[in-house]
Amino acid sequence: MKIGIISDLHVDLNELPGEPLVEDALLDQAVRQKLDGLIIAGDISNDVNRSLSVLEMLKKESGIPVLFVPGNHDYWSKDNGITDTWNIYRQFQSFEGCLSERPYQLNQDWAVIGNSGWYDYTMGEPEYTFDQFERMHAMDRTWQDSIYVRWGMSNRDIHRYFYDRMERELAEISNSSVIMVTHMLAHPYFKVPMPHPQWSYFNAFLGSRDYAELYRKYGVRYGIMGHVHYRKRYMELGTEMICACLGYRKEWHHVSVTEELCDCLQVIDI
Ligand SMILES: [Fe+2]
Repeated sequence: MKIGIISDLHVDLNELPGEPLVEDALLDQAVRQKLDGLIIAGDISNDVNRSLSVLEMLKKESGIPVLFVPGNHDYWSKDNGITDTWNIYRQFQSFEGCLSERPYQLNQDWAVIGNSGWYDYTMGEPEYTFDQFERMHAMDRTWQDSIYVRWGMSNRDIHRYFYDRMERELAEISNSSVIMVTHMLAHPYFKVPMPHPQWSYFNAFLGSRDYAELYRKYGVRYGIMGHVHYRKRYMELGTEMICACLGYRKEWHHVSVTEELCDCLQVIDI
């Protein structure tokens, strides 16, 4: 099976008059490259309705399984005014390929397990205190999740919720090779390299070192993530980690969405 892997499409922010939509270009590649499945590791858009309509379109038009975990932007309330993030979380679960609390058996040998994951500041640099990270504001910049995402629990607790949920699902899957998907970084290899004036603080909001423990403990074969707008692959102790973020147009190498998408989309053969 050929499985396409991509993340951080930001279809709304990347819209440009006269250019194809990111989702249409992705559908085109899925068909051209004869993919048997597609995994999107979050941040489709800044609004649950737009993200869900992209997912439904991709699934319907491609006819292949489209698997997904919401990213922090998918949970944002900026445009829809939904003040309880759990409400958005449940809306995403109405999509068949949403992995939150629902592992997906690709075939007899392979299962996909995932959820958004969250950050617990363990990716941050030690010069800052826990209280400083809790403010989610430094150097005149506010981490926008503190305004637009409202779990009603602390960042540490929401990370713990997602971690425990994932561990339970991993423990229950016994006879399959596992692809584990998070939006947040699961390994510090992918955080912004130091020294960096701003990211020495903001790396704290990229993920948690704990998720890589699950890779090791359960022999996870592939670890898929997004969020940081990098395109990197890294192998450690039998887990191949893939971060394949399309990111914002201003970060692109090409003018054409199709060319950029081809650069970004990773394909694994299982
Ligand atoms: Fe993100």
